[in-house]
Amino acid sequence: MDKIIIEGGQTRLSGEVKIEGAKNAVLPLLAATILPTEGKTLLRNVPILSDVFTMNNVVRGLNIQVDFDQAKNEILVDARGPILDEAPYEYVSQMRASIVVLGPILARQGHAKVSMPGGCTIGSRPIDLHLKGLELMGAEIHQEGGDITAKADKLKGATIYMDFPSVGATQNLMMAATLADGVTVIENAAREPEIVDLAILLNKMGADVKGAGTETLTITGVKELHGAEHDVVQDRIEAGTFMVAAAMTSGNVLIKDAIWEHNRPLLAKLMEMGVKATEEKGGIRIQANRDQLKPVTVKTLPHPGFPTDMQAQFTALMAVVKGESTMIETVFENRFQHLEEMRRMGLHLEILRETALIHGGQQLQGAPVMSTDLRASAALILTGMVAEGKTVVSKLNHLDRGYYQFHEKLKALGAKIERVSEDSHG
Ligand code: EPU
Repeated sequence: MDKIIIEGGQTRLSGEVKIEGAKNAVLPLLAATILPTEGKTLLRNVPILSDVFTMNNVVRGLNIQVDFDQAKNEILVDARGPILDEAPYEYVSQMRASIVVLGPILARQGHAKVSMPGGCTIGSRPIDLHLKGLELMGAEIHQEGGDITAKADKLKGATIYMDFPSVGATQNLMMAATLADGVTVIENAAREPEIVDLAILLNKMGADVKGAGTETLTITGVKELHGAEHDVVQDRIEAGTFMVAAAMTSGNVLIKDAIWEHNRPLLAKLMEMGVKATEEKGGIRIQANRDQLKPVTVKTLPHPGFPTDMQAQFTALMAVVKGESTMIETVFENRFQHLEEMRRMGLHLEILRETALIHGGQQLQGAPVMSTDLRASAALILTGMVAEGKTVVSKLNHLDRGYYQFHEKLKALGAKIERVSEDSHG
């Protein structure tokens, strides 16, 4: 496996960076391509990521044709004709997000068998809300031998209150409801931009989804769906990662095509710290002098709160800001593992349950570190840019799940960064 080597200390990022389509949008969009029984679906602005390859294989495993034209960032899906109703362990086990195929398969086939997703380093991540919602719509659910089997000749519209606005459960139930009999109301639904993107595609396919982006979704079932064309929304987390990278290196970077509204919770905190953020025609410009930034308190919450997917990267920024900053992680119970790696780079911090106190502003030192999950890997690379000397980040399989050409993009902005294969630097 590859490693990333960073020579840190004096890096100041400057220039422009292009943002890809959102990983967390395209995965459920691919699940939605299972639904149409007429026409093909074309997704554009698709990022080239290992999670996308995995989801393509999950969908292909259902006997659906999936063609990924990487040169054009387009995926064409043909789900006409008979499809299978089992998503095998071989693919599902590689990625938790593949559980979102359960709703679409069940809605289309009346029966679905999907392997139970396994454990995860950032938290236990149960799927009870997905299953409870489907049961309220009339599905009989059984869990046996590591598989979930769901059966309902025809799903029925229902009112579902979600105890927590889970992103994946909202997506699963929204897709299932498009072909149900009658009206489904999802209360306390997730409001992330990726939910809105999914609703847009479903409506283009002929579905009737209202209220996406608010806490109440109303879905009136239709008889069948057809293929459609859709541009995947920009990746607000990739954009946010570069915003943080610019701020912590006292940089001046234009994040091209970043959407202000989608990054509002992050931008609010950056500006509270003293970072200059400006909306320009081509995107969002971030400028900062890190020696003048102030410490802040941040609490992760479902959208429109501060995104948990920016938590690790933001702690890297907190590490260079003089004074005590506080990070409270409320969405996942085990998402501070990157901090233990940053401690090895000289960061002073204390962790008490969901709260991390970060004593920032000390000069960090480069060290060999290991990424523990996707966002942790980005955070460690950013930290390597401000630490003195050499940082080597390993376990890049996590990074490749969600960032396309991360090191090339940072290098083009001025970072001293290389990617090497593990063997060549044994
Ligand atoms: N939860 C339950 N029961 C459920 C579902 C969720 O208790 O049935 C809990 C989870 O255990 C967790 C919380 O609710 O503590 C949030 O989970 P949610 O279902 O909202 O997250 P997800 O759909 O599994 C998506 C993103 C994650 C992102 C979260 C939160 C995708 C593919 N993944 O996961 O992205 O952190 O929403 O915003 O969209 C990442 O990109 O690095 C990543 C982990």
